[in-house]
Amino acid sequence: MIYERLLQDNKSWAKAKLQEDPDYFERLVNVQTPEILWIGCSDSRVPPDQITQTKPGEIFIHRNVANMVVHTDLNLLSVLQYAVEVLKVKHIIVCGHYGCGGVKAAMGRNSLGIINKWLRNIKDVYRFHSDELEAIKDDQNRLNRLIELNIIEQVNNLAKTSIVQRAWKEWDAPHIHGWVYNLADGIIHTLFDIAPGTHMEHPIYEYDNL
Ligand code: CO
Repeated sequence: MIYERLLQDNKSWAKAKLQEDPDYFERLVNVQTPEILWIGCSDSRVPPDQITQTKPGEIFIHRNVANMVVHTDLNLLSVLQYAVEVLKVKHIIVCGHYGCGGVKAAMGRNSLGIINKWLRNIKDVYRFHSDELEAIKDDQNRLNRLIELNIIEQVNNLAKTSIVQRAWKEWDAPHIHGWVYNLADGIIHTLFDIAPGTHMEHPIYEYDNL
C-alpha cells in the first residue's frame, strides 16, 4: 500500500537524520526562524523545498491551486499575518509554474463545480490583460503568458494588504517576488518583484492610517 511506504520511509529518514546529526531534531523542535514565506501551487510536481534545496526551518509554506493570493481567503491571510508579524519574514515568494492545470482550467469554459469560484480570480486576470493574451496565437504560449501575468497579479495582491503595508512602514520588509518554475527543465525564472515602500499601481490601494 502506498501509504505504508510513506510511513516506512519516514522512519528511515528520521533514523538517517539522527545518524548524521544526533542533535538534528532537538535543534529544530524549539524554534523556527524562516526568513522566507513561499506561496506556491499545490501541484505535486513543484515541491518548494526540493526545487530550492531549502532545509526544514528555512521556508514557511502556503500552497493552493494556482498559487493565489485572494484577499478574502482566511487561510492565506492567517499564514501571511503570522509569517509577516510574528516570524518577520524578509521575503515573500509567489512561485507559479508553466503548465499549471489551475490556470489552464480558468482559461477554459467548462464548469467544474465549486472550483469555478476559485478560478474566477484567474479569469479576472485574463480579462485585465485580454488584449495582450488574445494577440498570442499559440495556445501553449498564451497559457504560459497568463501563468506569468497571474503570478504578477498575486504579487500585487500581497502588496495591497494592510498586513504588508504596515510591515513596510514599521520595519521596511518584506520584499515580494514573483517567480515561475519550468517543469520541463527544473529551472526557476524571476518575473517581477516589489521592494518595501513601493507605491501601488493606484493610490486607492494605499492605507494612510497604518
Ligand atoms: Co499549478
